[in-house]
Amino acid sequence: MKTLLIVVHSATGGARQMAMAAAEGAAAEPSVTTHLLPAGQAGPEDVLAADGYLFAAPENLAALAGQMKDFFDRTYYPVLDRINGRPYASMICAGSDGHNAARQIARIVTGWRLREVAAPLIVCTRAQTPEAILAQKQIGAAELARCRELGAALAAGIAAGIF
Ligand SMILES: Cc1cc2nc3c(=O)[nH]c(=O)nc-3n(C[C@H](O)[C@H](O)[C@H](O)COP(=O)(O)O)c2cc1C
Repeated sequence: MKTLLIVVHSATGGARQMAMAAAEGAAAEPSVTTHLLPAGQAGPEDVLAADGYLFAAPENLAALAGQMKDFFDRTYYPVLDRINGRPYASMICAGSDGHNAARQIARIVTGWRLREVAAPLIVCTRAQTPEAILAQKQIGAAELARCRELGAALAAGIAAGIF
């Protein structure tokens, strides 16, 4: 059995729905086990045990959300040079942008020598007012379908050993 680790942080539900959709997609691949873990609960042992990764988080204040950054801060050195070459992809839930958060993940995992196997999947909720930003999010069906496809593609690639 191979393992796909999905690490997610979400404050208002958007990134969580995206991660769950990706996990659903990955479940279509019977030879890959998917571990979906909140960023606060994921540690170095989870990273070491996985064959590939999907990181899902919001962009906050033009940066990767703090709890996801904390996950990388805690796990970066314990696994450095022990996961070189493994595949990864990222998903960002954002109000209107998301690119800086995606860039930060790419920069961080360059140090881990991970291989990006899909472009960052960014979903914008278009929340602009404080009320809309703080409200629970509902990600649309078409966007969730893209997340499912990404999870399925990651799991299929890991299973086939093509990454
Ligand atoms: C403090 C804060 C800062 C934010 N800054 C940004 C930002 O810089 N760029 C952006 O596109 N969205 C920004 N947003 C919007 C969130 O990315 C958006 O609400 C997203 O749905 C959050 O994901 P979640 O539902 O998984 O928590 C911000 C939200 C908060 C609460």
